[in-house]
Amino acid sequence: MEVLKNSEKFSVFKIREKNKNIILKIAHKDPKKILREVKLLKKLSVSSNFYKSKIPKMINFGLVKKGLSKNKGFYKQDFINGFTFSQIIQKQKISKKNLNLLVKTLINKFLLITREKKLISKRKNSLTQIKKLIKTEFSKIKNKGLLLNLINSKIINIDGEEYKNIRFYLEYIFNSRKLKKLKNCQFLAEIGHWNFHGGNIIFPPNKKFGKFHLIDPDATWNFNDPFFSLSRFIYTFPHDTMEFDKYVIYSENFRPGNNKDKMNFKCKILWKKEVLYKYNVAFNKFFHKNFKINPLFKNLSELEFLRYNLTIILCFIRGINSNYEQKINFLNKKSSIFQNKSIYLYLLTLRRLKSFKNFLDNKYD
Ligand SMILES: Nc1ncnc2c1ncn2[C@@H]1O[C@H](COP(=O)(O)OP(=O)(O)O)[C@@H](O)[C@H]1O
Ligand SMILES: [Mg+2]
Repeated sequence: MEVLKNSEKFSVFKIREKNKNIILKIAHKDPKKILREVKLLKKLSVSSNFYKSKIPKMINFGLVKKGLSKNKGFYKQDFINGFTFSQIIQKQKISKKNLNLLVKTLINKFLLITREKKLISKRKNSLTQIKKLIKTEFSKIKNKGLLLNLINSKIINIDGEEYKNIRFYLEYIFNSRKLKKLKNCQFLAEIGHWNFHGGNIIFPPNKKFGKFHLIDPDATWNFNDPFFSLSRFIYTFPHDTMEFDKYVIYSENFRPGNNKDKMNFKCKILWKKEVLYKYNVAFNKFFHKNFKINPLFKNLSELEFLRYNLTIILCFIRGINSNYEQKINFLNKKSSIFQNKSIYLYLLTLRRLKSFKNFLDNKYD
């Protein structure tokens, strides 16, 4: 039995059964959640030819009967031989040229399923509902002790550039004239994978880039904008950097005398040079300050680009929430260098919000 991934929430094992490699995923928290995941995997597999060909076969699921994991929820699934997108980057398995091609292929495939009309539900007021999802995530981070003063700080300087706080940007965006163009559109779906994160895309060796598999959908959404799944792919870079602790933050804001209304942060990424280079090749263009550099700006209609921006913001704020840690990990006993996943993601969220505001303001003309 080989451990493929282990966290507070799940353990994922590779095991051998009936002369075959299979996956055993065990949930450490409420079994209901993983059983929802099973249900979604099954629904997705019959929802379209795309998902049918991408989702590995479910073998079995239920509650573990014996042993240390007794009564925990689990499922067994076909094992897909290959590397995940994140592994391909971290293990240096691809050239720059092929990586560009790979990302292009993925985005095109993801866009096809994002635009699949038959998955769009008849839900009314899509704009109001997506705003509500963002507001709900925001209201959850507002209550987190560590983030309180950061969220209330009026001006935040990150790597030499000034930002307002999250509340300011959200209000500005929600009240903008451009966003109102989405008012009479229906674009929410009840079925979706919601999680094209790089760790959930597996490429079997020696096959075409389009022949990937998708695992691990996010079954926590009753509905969402199909762009959310694609946003999770773009979010792979900040997510992996945060998850593997490949960043540090420099800041003097822990000194009690420092002015609360103006905080200063500097972020540094710690990936090995070659790995960082590949992450940048894959994702830098999507995070450029100037939204016009983002290839999605060219490839999406204006309404789609608005939806993409809303979902990437939802994705980041959700990330702050689900990776919230109360503890600040000071490095080398110096109070000015530390790691904290939620603070890091908050700072990156401000960058996204500012870039969206620039788009709404028609900057960079
Ligand atoms: N069906 C599968 N085939 C091959 N590898 C898998 C499979 N399912 C999971 N894995 C491996 O285990 C890792 C974690 O599984 P995942 O279901 O994504 O858990 P988590 O919810 O913790 O992200 C994946 O990133 C992948 O490397
Ligand atoms: Mg995963």
